[in-house]
Amino acid sequence: MAALNHLVPIPLLGLFFFFFLVSPPTLACDAGDRATLLKIKARFLNPGKFTSWDESVDCCTWYGVTCSYPQDNGGRVTSLKYYNMDGAASSGLFGRLPDELGDLSFLGVLALGNHPNVYGVLPLTLTRLTSLSILYLFNNSLYGALPSFLTQIPSLAMLNLSFNKFRGPIPPEFSNFSSLHYLNLEANDLEGVIPSTIASLSKSVLSVSLFLSHNRLSGDIPAELWASNWRSLYLSHNNLTGDATALFSVNKTISYMDLSYNKLEFDITRIHFPITLLKLSLQNNKITGSIPAQINQLSELFIFNVSYNQLCGIIPAGPVMDRFDDTHFFPNKCLCRSKETCP
Ligand SMILES: *[C@@H]1O[C@H](CO)[C@@H](O)[C@H](O)[C@H]1NC(C)=O
Ligand SMILES: *[C@@H]1O[C@H](CO)[C@@H](O)[C@H](O)[C@H]1NC(C)=O
Ligand SMILES: *[C@@H]1O[C@H](CO)[C@@H](O)[C@H](O)[C@H]1NC(C)=O
Ligand SMILES: *[C@@H]1O[C@H](CO)[C@@H](O)[C@H](O)[C@H]1NC(C)=O
Ligand SMILES: *[C@@H]1O[C@H](CO)[C@@H](O)[C@H](O)[C@H]1NC(C)=O
Ligand SMILES: *[C@@H]1O[C@H](CO)[C@@H](O)[C@H](O)[C@H]1NC(C)=O
Repeated sequence: MAALNHLVPIPLLGLFFFFFLVSPPTLACDAGDRATLLKIKARFLNPGKFTSWDESVDCCTWYGVTCSYPQDNGGRVTSLKYYNMDGAASSGLFGRLPDELGDLSFLGVLALGNHPNVYGVLPLTLTRLTSLSILYLFNNSLYGALPSFLTQIPSLAMLNLSFNKFRGPIPPEFSNFSSLHYLNLEANDLEGVIPSTIASLSKSVLSVSLFLSHNRLSGDIPAELWASNWRSLYLSHNNLTGDATALFSVNKTISYMDLSYNKLEFDITRIHFPITLLKLSLQNNKITGSIPAQINQLSELFIFNVSYNQLCGIIPAGPVMDRFDDTHFFPNKCLCRSKETCP
Protein backbone atom coordinates (compact mmCIF):
# COMPACT_ATOMS: atom_id res chain seq x y z
CA MET A 1 0.00 0.00 0.00
CA ALA A 2 2.95 2.31 0.80
CA ALA A 3 4.40 1.66 -2.66
CA LEU A 4 1.08 2.47 -4.27
CA ASN A 5 0.93 5.80 -2.43
CA HIS A 6 4.17 6.80 -4.12
CA LEU A 7 2.92 5.92 -7.58
CA VAL A 8 -0.66 7.20 -7.60
CA PRO A 9 -1.23 10.89 -6.94
CA ILE A 10 -3.56 11.46 -3.97
CA PRO A 11 -6.36 13.23 -5.93
CA LEU A 12 -6.66 10.30 -8.35
CA LEU A 13 -6.84 7.88 -5.47
CA GLY A 14 -9.61 10.02 -4.02
CA LEU A 15 -11.48 9.79 -7.33
CA PHE A 16 -11.09 6.02 -7.24
CA PHE A 17 -12.57 5.85 -3.76
CA PHE A 18 -15.30 8.29 -4.76
CA PHE A 19 -16.53 5.89 -7.42
CA PHE A 20 -15.94 2.83 -5.30
CA LEU A 21 -17.89 4.15 -2.33
CA VAL A 22 -20.46 6.46 -3.87
CA SER A 23 -21.69 4.69 -7.01
CA PRO A 24 -22.88 1.41 -5.46
CA PRO A 25 -25.49 3.08 -3.20
CA THR A 26 -27.10 4.83 -6.22
CA LEU A 27 -27.47 1.39 -7.88
CA ALA A 28 -28.98 -0.17 -4.76
CA CYS A 29 -32.40 -1.61 -4.90
CA ASP A 30 -35.44 0.41 -3.91
CA ALA A 31 -36.46 -0.70 -0.40
CA GLY A 32 -40.10 -1.14 -1.37
CA ASP A 33 -39.24 -3.25 -4.40
CA ARG A 34 -36.89 -5.37 -2.27
CA ALA A 35 -39.64 -6.03 0.27
CA THR A 36 -42.03 -6.93 -2.57
CA LEU A 37 -39.52 -9.34 -4.12
CA LEU A 38 -39.02 -11.08 -0.78
CA LYS A 39 -42.79 -11.55 -0.48
CA ILE A 40 -42.85 -12.96 -4.03
CA LYS A 41 -40.00 -15.33 -3.16
CA ALA A 42 -41.95 -16.63 -0.16
CA ARG A 43 -45.14 -17.03 -2.20
CA PHE A 44 -43.21 -19.13 -4.75
CA LEU A 45 -42.04 -21.31 -1.80
CA ASN A 46 -38.43 -20.05 -1.71
CA PRO A 47 -37.29 -21.69 -4.95
CA GLY A 48 -33.74 -23.06 -5.06
CA LYS A 49 -32.74 -20.67 -7.83
CA PHE A 50 -33.52 -17.68 -5.58
CA THR A 51 -30.83 -18.29 -2.92
CA SER A 52 -29.22 -15.04 -4.10
CA TRP A 53 -32.43 -13.26 -3.07
CA ASP A 54 -30.91 -12.34 0.27
CA GLU A 55 -31.71 -9.15 2.16
CA SER A 56 -28.01 -8.44 2.82
CA VAL A 57 -27.32 -8.21 -0.92
CA ASP A 58 -28.38 -5.41 -3.32
CA CYS A 59 -31.54 -6.82 -4.87
CA CYS A 60 -30.57 -5.41 -8.28
CA THR A 61 -28.00 -8.23 -8.39
CA TRP A 62 -30.46 -10.99 -7.49
CA TYR A 63 -31.00 -13.85 -9.94
CA GLY A 64 -33.49 -12.85 -12.64
CA VAL A 65 -33.79 -9.24 -11.44
CA THR A 66 -32.80 -6.16 -13.44
CA CYS A 67 -33.05 -2.58 -12.21
CA SER A 68 -33.27 0.75 -13.96
CA TYR A 69 -30.12 2.82 -14.40
CA PRO A 70 -29.30 5.29 -11.61
CA GLN A 71 -30.13 8.34 -13.71
CA ASP A 72 -33.76 7.34 -14.06
CA ASN A 73 -35.43 6.23 -10.83
CA GLY A 74 -32.31 4.45 -9.56
CA GLY A 75 -32.78 0.94 -8.30
CA ARG A 76 -36.36 0.33 -9.35
CA VAL A 77 -36.97 -3.23 -10.56
CA THR A 78 -37.66 -3.11 -14.30
CA SER A 79 -37.40 -6.77 -15.24
CA LEU A 80 -38.12 -10.10 -13.57
CA LYS A 81 -37.15 -13.05 -15.72
CA TYR A 82 -36.73 -16.72 -14.91
CA TYR A 83 -36.99 -19.45 -17.54
CA ASN A 84 -36.70 -22.81 -15.83
CA MET A 85 -34.59 -24.79 -18.29
CA ASP A 86 -34.12 -27.68 -15.88
CA GLY A 87 -37.06 -29.73 -17.15
CA ALA A 88 -37.48 -31.52 -13.83
CA ALA A 89 -41.00 -31.27 -12.42
CA SER A 90 -39.54 -30.58 -8.97
CA SER A 91 -37.58 -27.49 -10.07
CA GLY A 92 -38.67 -23.95 -10.74
CA LEU A 93 -41.36 -21.88 -9.08
CA PHE A 94 -44.30 -23.26 -7.12
CA GLY A 95 -47.79 -21.90 -6.67
CA ARG A 96 -50.05 -19.19 -8.04
CA LEU A 97 -48.76 -15.97 -9.57
CA PRO A 98 -48.64 -13.70 -6.50
CA ASP A 99 -50.77 -10.54 -6.37
CA GLU A 100 -47.60 -8.74 -5.21
CA LEU A 101 -46.26 -8.82 -8.81
CA GLY A 102 -48.55 -5.82 -9.34
CA ASP A 103 -46.57 -3.87 -6.73
CA LEU A 104 -43.40 -3.79 -8.86
CA SER A 105 -44.62 -0.57 -10.43
CA PHE A 106 -41.65 -0.02 -12.75
CA LEU A 107 -41.70 -3.51 -14.25
CA GLY A 108 -41.28 -3.46 -18.03
CA VAL A 109 -40.60 -7.18 -18.51
CA LEU A 110 -42.23 -10.06 -16.63
CA ALA A 111 -41.03 -13.37 -18.03
CA LEU A 112 -41.61 -16.61 -16.11
CA GLY A 113 -41.57 -19.69 -18.32
CA ASN A 114 -41.33 -23.49 -18.11
CA HIS A 115 -42.57 -23.76 -14.52
CA PRO A 116 -44.88 -26.78 -14.47
CA ASN A 117 -45.88 -26.02 -10.86
CA VAL A 118 -47.02 -22.46 -11.50
CA TYR A 119 -50.79 -22.72 -11.80
CA GLY A 120 -54.00 -20.77 -11.37
CA VAL A 121 -55.54 -17.72 -12.96
CA LEU A 122 -53.76 -14.52 -13.93
CA PRO A 123 -53.90 -11.96 -11.10
CA LEU A 124 -55.88 -8.77 -11.73
CA THR A 125 -53.04 -6.81 -10.11
CA LEU A 126 -51.09 -7.14 -13.39
CA THR A 127 -53.19 -4.21 -14.66
CA ARG A 128 -51.30 -1.97 -12.22
CA LEU A 129 -48.09 -2.49 -14.22
CA THR A 130 -48.39 0.59 -16.39
CA SER A 131 -44.87 0.23 -17.85
CA LEU A 132 -45.13 -3.45 -18.70
CA SER A 133 -44.36 -4.06 -22.37
CA ILE A 134 -43.39 -7.75 -22.32
CA LEU A 135 -45.48 -10.37 -20.52
CA TYR A 136 -44.18 -13.90 -21.14
CA LEU A 137 -45.84 -16.59 -19.02
CA PHE A 138 -45.46 -19.52 -21.43
CA ASN A 139 -45.29 -23.21 -20.64
CA ASN A 140 -46.62 -23.06 -17.08
CA SER A 141 -49.84 -24.62 -15.78
CA LEU A 142 -51.96 -21.47 -15.83
CA TYR A 143 -55.67 -21.95 -16.38
CA GLY A 144 -59.01 -20.20 -16.46
CA ALA A 145 -60.53 -17.98 -19.09
CA LEU A 146 -58.25 -15.56 -20.92
CA PRO A 147 -58.89 -12.38 -18.96
CA SER A 148 -59.89 -9.32 -20.98
CA PHE A 149 -58.36 -7.13 -18.24
CA LEU A 150 -54.97 -7.71 -19.91
CA THR A 151 -55.98 -5.06 -22.46
CA GLN A 152 -55.84 -2.52 -19.61
CA ILE A 153 -52.04 -2.87 -19.45
CA PRO A 154 -51.42 0.24 -21.53
CA SER A 155 -47.96 -0.42 -22.99
CA LEU A 156 -48.19 -4.17 -23.54
CA ALA A 157 -46.35 -4.96 -26.79
CA MET A 158 -45.68 -8.70 -26.56
CA LEU A 159 -47.88 -11.30 -24.85
CA ASN A 160 -46.92 -14.98 -24.77
CA LEU A 161 -49.29 -17.29 -22.90
CA SER A 162 -48.58 -20.38 -25.02
CA PHE A 163 -48.39 -23.91 -23.59
CA ASN A 164 -50.75 -23.37 -20.67
CA LYS A 165 -54.28 -24.59 -19.90
CA PHE A 166 -56.33 -21.53 -20.71
CA ARG A 167 -59.87 -22.49 -21.71
CA GLY A 168 -62.83 -21.04 -23.53
CA PRO A 169 -63.06 -18.38 -26.20
CA ILE A 170 -60.59 -15.72 -27.26
CA PRO A 171 -62.18 -12.59 -25.75
CA PRO A 172 -63.36 -10.15 -28.45
CA GLU A 173 -61.93 -7.43 -26.18
CA PHE A 174 -58.44 -8.58 -27.22
CA SER A 175 -58.86 -6.26 -30.20
CA ASN A 176 -58.50 -3.38 -27.76
CA PHE A 177 -54.79 -3.80 -27.06
CA SER A 178 -53.35 -0.46 -28.06
CA SER A 179 -49.73 -1.39 -28.85
CA LEU A 180 -49.62 -5.17 -29.04
CA HIS A 181 -47.64 -6.59 -31.95
CA TYR A 182 -47.00 -10.16 -30.75
CA LEU A 183 -49.77 -12.38 -29.43
CA ASN A 184 -49.02 -16.05 -28.77
CA LEU A 185 -51.86 -18.21 -27.41
CA GLU A 186 -50.67 -21.50 -28.94
CA ALA A 187 -51.18 -24.89 -27.31
CA ASN A 188 -53.95 -24.04 -24.89
CA ASP A 189 -57.51 -25.31 -24.76
CA LEU A 190 -59.15 -22.40 -26.55
CA GLU A 191 -62.37 -23.02 -28.42
CA GLY A 192 -65.03 -21.20 -30.38
CA VAL A 193 -64.46 -18.98 -33.37
CA ILE A 194 -61.62 -16.56 -33.99
CA PRO A 195 -63.26 -13.23 -33.13
CA SER A 196 -63.36 -10.97 -36.16
CA THR A 197 -62.36 -8.06 -33.92
CA ILE A 198 -58.86 -9.55 -33.61
CA ALA A 199 -58.18 -8.07 -37.05
CA SER A 200 -58.01 -4.59 -35.56
CA LEU A 201 -54.85 -5.55 -33.64
CA SER A 202 -52.87 -4.70 -36.73
CA LYS A 203 -54.44 -1.28 -37.18
CA SER A 204 -52.35 0.34 -34.47
CA VAL A 205 -48.90 -0.90 -35.46
CA LEU A 206 -47.19 -1.79 -38.70
CA SER A 207 -47.37 -5.58 -38.62
CA VAL A 208 -48.54 -8.07 -36.05
CA SER A 209 -47.66 -11.70 -35.32
CA LEU A 210 -50.54 -13.90 -34.24
CA PHE A 211 -50.06 -17.47 -32.98
CA LEU A 212 -53.21 -19.51 -32.33
CA SER A 213 -52.05 -23.00 -33.36
CA HIS A 214 -52.80 -26.17 -31.38
CA ASN A 215 -56.14 -25.17 -29.89
CA ARG A 216 -59.71 -26.25 -30.64
CA LEU A 217 -60.79 -23.21 -32.62
CA SER A 218 -63.53 -23.78 -35.16
CA GLY A 219 -65.60 -21.97 -37.73
CA ASP A 220 -64.47 -19.90 -40.70
CA ILE A 221 -61.41 -17.67 -40.58
CA PRO A 222 -63.08 -14.26 -40.24
CA ALA A 223 -63.09 -12.22 -43.41
CA GLU A 224 -61.81 -9.20 -41.48
CA LEU A 225 -58.40 -10.86 -41.17
CA TRP A 226 -57.85 -10.25 -44.90
CA ALA A 227 -57.58 -6.54 -44.46
CA SER A 228 -54.91 -6.80 -41.77
CA ASN A 229 -51.19 -6.48 -42.00
CA TRP A 230 -49.75 -9.63 -40.44
CA ARG A 231 -46.12 -10.53 -40.21
CA SER A 232 -46.90 -14.05 -39.00
CA LEU A 233 -50.18 -15.91 -38.94
CA TYR A 234 -50.07 -19.35 -37.28
CA LEU A 235 -53.48 -21.04 -37.17
CA SER A 236 -52.49 -24.71 -37.60
CA HIS A 237 -53.91 -27.71 -35.73
CA ASN A 238 -57.39 -26.33 -35.12
CA ASN A 239 -60.78 -27.15 -36.61
CA LEU A 240 -61.03 -24.17 -38.93
CA THR A 241 -63.28 -24.52 -41.96
CA GLY A 242 -64.25 -22.66 -45.09
CA ASP A 243 -62.53 -20.53 -47.66
CA ALA A 244 -59.19 -18.89 -46.86
CA THR A 245 -58.40 -17.53 -50.34
CA ALA A 246 -59.04 -13.97 -49.28
CA LEU A 247 -56.18 -14.15 -46.78
CA PHE A 248 -53.82 -14.13 -49.73
CA SER A 249 -53.19 -10.94 -51.58
CA VAL A 250 -50.23 -9.86 -53.66
CA ASN A 251 -50.04 -6.58 -51.83
CA LYS A 252 -49.64 -7.98 -48.30
CA THR A 253 -46.28 -8.16 -46.57
CA ILE A 254 -46.86 -11.34 -44.59
CA SER A 255 -43.79 -13.55 -44.07
CA TYR A 256 -44.97 -16.64 -42.21
CA MET A 257 -48.26 -18.38 -42.80
CA ASP A 258 -49.25 -21.72 -41.30
CA LEU A 259 -52.81 -22.92 -41.90
CA SER A 260 -51.97 -26.64 -41.81
CA TYR A 261 -54.02 -29.34 -40.07
CA ASN A 262 -57.44 -27.72 -40.36
CA LYS A 263 -60.53 -28.39 -42.48
CA LEU A 264 -60.08 -25.53 -44.92
CA GLU A 265 -61.82 -26.08 -48.20
CA PHE A 266 -61.07 -23.82 -51.14
CA ASP A 267 -59.75 -23.70 -54.69
CA ILE A 268 -56.10 -22.65 -54.80
CA THR A 269 -56.09 -22.10 -58.58
CA ARG A 270 -56.82 -18.35 -58.64
CA ILE A 271 -54.77 -17.35 -55.59
CA HIS A 272 -52.12 -14.62 -55.90
CA PHE A 273 -49.62 -15.25 -53.12
CA PRO A 274 -47.91 -12.32 -51.36
CA ILE A 275 -44.35 -12.31 -52.70
CA THR A 276 -42.94 -11.68 -49.20
CA LEU A 277 -43.82 -15.21 -48.02
CA LEU A 278 -40.97 -17.15 -46.41
CA LYS A 279 -43.16 -19.92 -45.08
CA LEU A 280 -46.37 -21.36 -46.50
CA SER A 281 -47.79 -24.43 -44.78
CA LEU A 282 -51.13 -25.67 -46.09
CA GLN A 283 -50.81 -29.44 -45.55
CA ASN A 284 -53.63 -31.56 -44.17
CA ASN A 285 -56.62 -29.55 -45.35
CA LYS A 286 -59.23 -30.05 -48.09
CA ILE A 287 -57.75 -27.65 -50.63
CA THR A 288 -58.65 -28.26 -54.29
CA GLY A 289 -57.52 -26.93 -57.67
CA SER A 290 -54.00 -26.67 -59.07
CA ILE A 291 -50.95 -24.74 -57.88
CA PRO A 292 -50.80 -21.38 -59.70
CA ALA A 293 -47.62 -20.55 -61.67
CA GLN A 294 -47.39 -17.21 -59.80
CA ILE A 295 -45.97 -19.17 -56.84
CA ASN A 296 -42.62 -19.18 -58.70
CA GLN A 297 -42.36 -15.44 -57.97
CA LEU A 298 -41.97 -16.09 -54.23
CA SER A 299 -38.18 -15.87 -54.25
CA GLU A 300 -37.92 -15.92 -50.44
CA LEU A 301 -40.03 -19.04 -49.89
CA PHE A 302 -38.06 -21.69 -48.00
CA ILE A 303 -40.71 -23.58 -46.04
CA PHE A 304 -43.52 -24.98 -48.14
CA ASN A 305 -45.95 -27.88 -47.80
CA VAL A 306 -49.24 -28.69 -49.54
CA SER A 307 -49.36 -32.44 -48.98
CA TYR A 308 -52.53 -34.24 -47.84
CA ASN A 309 -54.96 -32.06 -49.79
CA GLN A 310 -57.14 -32.56 -52.90
CA LEU A 311 -54.83 -30.84 -55.39
CA CYS A 312 -54.61 -31.79 -59.07
CA GLY A 313 -52.68 -30.79 -62.17
CA ILE A 314 -49.04 -30.16 -62.97
CA ILE A 315 -46.75 -28.61 -60.36
CA PRO A 316 -45.57 -25.43 -62.16
CA ALA A 317 -41.84 -25.89 -62.82
CA GLY A 318 -39.82 -22.81 -61.91
CA PRO A 319 -37.12 -21.42 -59.64
CA VAL A 320 -39.21 -21.70 -56.49
CA MET A 321 -41.13 -24.95 -56.92
CA ASP A 322 -37.95 -26.69 -58.10
CA ARG A 323 -36.51 -26.17 -54.60
CA PHE A 324 -38.92 -28.65 -53.10
CA ASP A 325 -38.91 -32.43 -53.47
CA ASP A 326 -41.95 -34.71 -53.51
CA THR A 327 -42.28 -34.77 -49.70
CA HIS A 328 -43.56 -31.17 -49.91
CA PHE A 329 -46.38 -32.08 -52.34
CA PHE A 330 -47.50 -35.67 -51.93
CA PRO A 331 -49.79 -37.38 -51.25
CA ASN A 332 -52.47 -35.36 -53.01
CA LYS A 333 -55.49 -36.16 -55.16
CA CYS A 334 -54.03 -36.00 -58.68
CA LEU A 335 -51.00 -33.73 -58.53
CA CYS A 336 -48.08 -34.52 -60.86
CA ARG A 337 -44.66 -33.28 -61.98
CA SER A 338 -45.23 -33.38 -65.76
CA LYS A 339 -47.79 -34.26 -68.44
CA GLU A 340 -46.20 -37.72 -68.76
CA THR A 341 -46.62 -38.57 -65.07
CA CYS A 342 -50.14 -37.16 -64.73
CA PRO A 343 -52.86 -39.67 -63.92
C1 LIG B 1 -42.02 -26.85 -20.94
O1 LIG B 1 -41.31 -26.93 -19.73
C2 LIG B 1 -40.85 -28.25 -19.45
C3 LIG B 1 -40.27 -28.23 -18.03
O2 LIG B 1 -39.48 -27.14 -17.78
C4 LIG B 1 -39.84 -28.65 -20.53
O3 LIG B 1 -39.36 -29.94 -20.27
C5 LIG B 1 -40.53 -28.62 -21.88
O4 LIG B 1 -39.61 -28.89 -22.91
C6 LIG B 1 -41.13 -27.23 -22.10
N1 LIG B 1 -41.94 -27.23 -23.33
C7 LIG B 1 -41.85 -26.27 -24.25
C8 LIG B 1 -42.78 -26.37 -25.40
O5 LIG B 1 -41.04 -25.36 -24.17
C1 LIG C 1 -43.41 -18.08 -26.72
O1 LIG C 1 -43.42 -19.33 -26.06
C2 LIG C 1 -43.10 -20.44 -26.87
C3 LIG C 1 -43.23 -21.70 -26.03
O2 LIG C 1 -42.28 -21.75 -25.03
C4 LIG C 1 -41.72 -20.27 -27.45
O3 LIG C 1 -41.43 -21.33 -28.34
C5 LIG C 1 -41.62 -18.95 -28.19
O4 LIG C 1 -40.30 -18.74 -28.64
C6 LIG C 1 -42.03 -17.81 -27.28
N1 LIG C 1 -42.00 -16.55 -28.01
C7 LIG C 1 -41.20 -15.54 -27.67
C8 LIG C 1 -41.28 -14.33 -28.55
O5 LIG C 1 -40.46 -15.59 -26.73
C1 LIG D 1 -62.75 -1.28 -26.72
O1 LIG D 1 -62.55 -0.08 -25.97
C2 LIG D 1 -63.51 0.90 -26.25
C3 LIG D 1 -63.15 2.17 -25.52
O2 LIG D 1 -62.31 1.91 -24.45
C4 LIG D 1 -64.87 0.39 -25.85
O3 LIG D 1 -65.87 1.36 -26.12
C5 LIG D 1 -65.19 -0.87 -26.62
O4 LIG D 1 -66.40 -1.42 -26.19
C6 LIG D 1 -64.10 -1.90 -26.42
N1 LIG D 1 -64.34 -3.02 -27.32
C7 LIG D 1 -64.41 -4.26 -26.89
C8 LIG D 1 -64.65 -5.31 -27.91
O5 LIG D 1 -64.22 -4.52 -25.72
C1 LIG E 1 -62.56 -31.14 -34.42
O1 LIG E 1 -63.94 -31.47 -34.46
C2 LIG E 1 -64.19 -32.87 -34.39
C3 LIG E 1 -65.68 -33.11 -34.60
O2 LIG E 1 -66.44 -32.10 -34.01
C4 LIG E 1 -63.70 -33.38 -33.04
O3 LIG E 1 -63.91 -34.77 -32.93
C5 LIG E 1 -62.20 -33.08 -32.93
O4 LIG E 1 -61.73 -33.47 -31.64
C6 LIG E 1 -61.92 -31.61 -33.13
N1 LIG E 1 -60.50 -31.40 -33.20
C7 LIG E 1 -59.89 -30.37 -32.61
C8 LIG E 1 -58.42 -30.26 -32.79
O5 LIG E 1 -60.51 -29.53 -31.97
C1 LIG F 1 -51.91 -3.63 -55.23
O1 LIG F 1 -51.56 -2.27 -55.08
C2 LIG F 1 -51.56 -1.53 -56.30
C3 LIG F 1 -51.03 -0.15 -56.01
O2 LIG F 1 -51.02 0.16 -54.67
C4 LIG F 1 -52.98 -1.51 -56.84
O3 LIG F 1 -53.00 -0.79 -58.07
C5 LIG F 1 -53.44 -2.94 -57.08
O4 LIG F 1 -54.78 -2.94 -57.51
C6 LIG F 1 -53.31 -3.76 -55.81
N1 LIG F 1 -53.62 -5.15 -56.12
C7 LIG F 1 -54.46 -5.87 -55.39
C8 LIG F 1 -54.67 -7.29 -55.84
O5 LIG F 1 -55.02 -5.44 -54.41
C1 LIG G 1 -45.37 -32.11 -45.29
O1 LIG G 1 -46.47 -32.45 -44.47
C2 LIG G 1 -46.66 -33.84 -44.32
C3 LIG G 1 -47.94 -34.05 -43.54
O2 LIG G 1 -47.88 -33.45 -42.31
C4 LIG G 1 -45.46 -34.46 -43.65
O3 LIG G 1 -45.63 -35.86 -43.54
C5 LIG G 1 -44.21 -34.16 -44.49
O4 LIG G 1 -43.07 -34.65 -43.83
C6 LIG G 1 -44.08 -32.67 -44.71
N1 LIG G 1 -42.98 -32.42 -45.63
C7 LIG G 1 -41.91 -31.72 -45.26
C8 LIG G 1 -40.84 -31.55 -46.28
O5 LIG G 1 -41.81 -31.22 -44.16
